[in-house]
Amino acid sequence: MAPLQTPLLKTNGLVAYYGDFQALFGVDIELDVDETVAIIGANGAGKTTLMRSIAGILRNAATSVSFDGRPIGAQPADEIMTQGVAMVPEGRRLFPSLSVEENLLIGTYGRKSRGYWTLDTVYDLFPILRERRNNPGTALSGGQQQMVAIGRALMSNPRVLLCDEISLGLAPVVIKDIYKAVPAIKAAGASLIVVEQDIAQAMAFADRVYCMMEGRVTLSGTPDTLSRNDIHDAYFGASQ
Ligand SMILES: Nc1ncnc2c1ncn2[C@@H]1O[C@H](COP(=O)(O)OP(=O)(O)OP(=O)(O)O)[C@@H](O)[C@H]1O
Ligand SMILES: [Mg+2]
Repeated sequence: MAPLQTPLLKTNGLVAYYGDFQALFGVDIELDVDETVAIIGANGAGKTTLMRSIAGILRNAATSVSFDGRPIGAQPADEIMTQGVAMVPEGRRLFPSLSVEENLLIGTYGRKSRGYWTLDTVYDLFPILRERRNNPGTALSGGQQQMVAIGRALMSNPRVLLCDEISLGLAPVVIKDIYKAVPAIKAAGASLIVVEQDIAQAMAFADRVYCMMEGRVTLSGTPDTLSRNDIHDAYFGASQ
């Protein structure tokens, strides 16, 4: 299917290294406006490295990431965030000594303009956080911490939200609660890239899926076009 418009976000032959170790080998992914894309893949496939490369935490060639048609690959993380790409990092990374509200307010740092997301609208999205607004981050359950991490990213009013393993370690009922927030996040104007190890979950919520293995994209498509066998091979390798 030919794209109707320039993708909102695109990686072009993206590579990444940790010292001498090459973690990404020419990754090409696209995210369209209003789209939700899932990245699946086994441990060590390079999913977090991809998120960190897009967010500018790992530096790249300028043209290896484009956002809204502009090359942003060489920009530092704070500039990329200011332009509208926010990340919910793997492991949530809250400031333990700060309250829920203070953690959320950190997300407003560097944002250019006000938008839909404020403390009030984040509390409407996750009402439990309103009740816990003065609690320290450490006094929260894993699911509540994840809600703060998502809320903090939303506070910058992003056009692209990168979520790295939002369901990791959470009970199914909590995962359901968190994914329930996705339509409201999209309605407020964000497109999403979500790293998700649970294949069924990814197939259920994503418009398109990319599977990664050993630093490469091994499969991509809409959930209805991908067979279980194709996904299995792309995830684990054809020989297993
Ligand atoms: N800071 C680092 N230093 C050296 N190597 C790293 C570093 N971070 C990741 N790697 C390596 O890069 C590769 C990709 O790791 P990455 O964390 O991107 O994978 P992932 O798909 O997110 O895995 P997981 O599902 O476990 O989160 C792995 O081989 C990993 O060991
Ligand atoms: Mg990871």
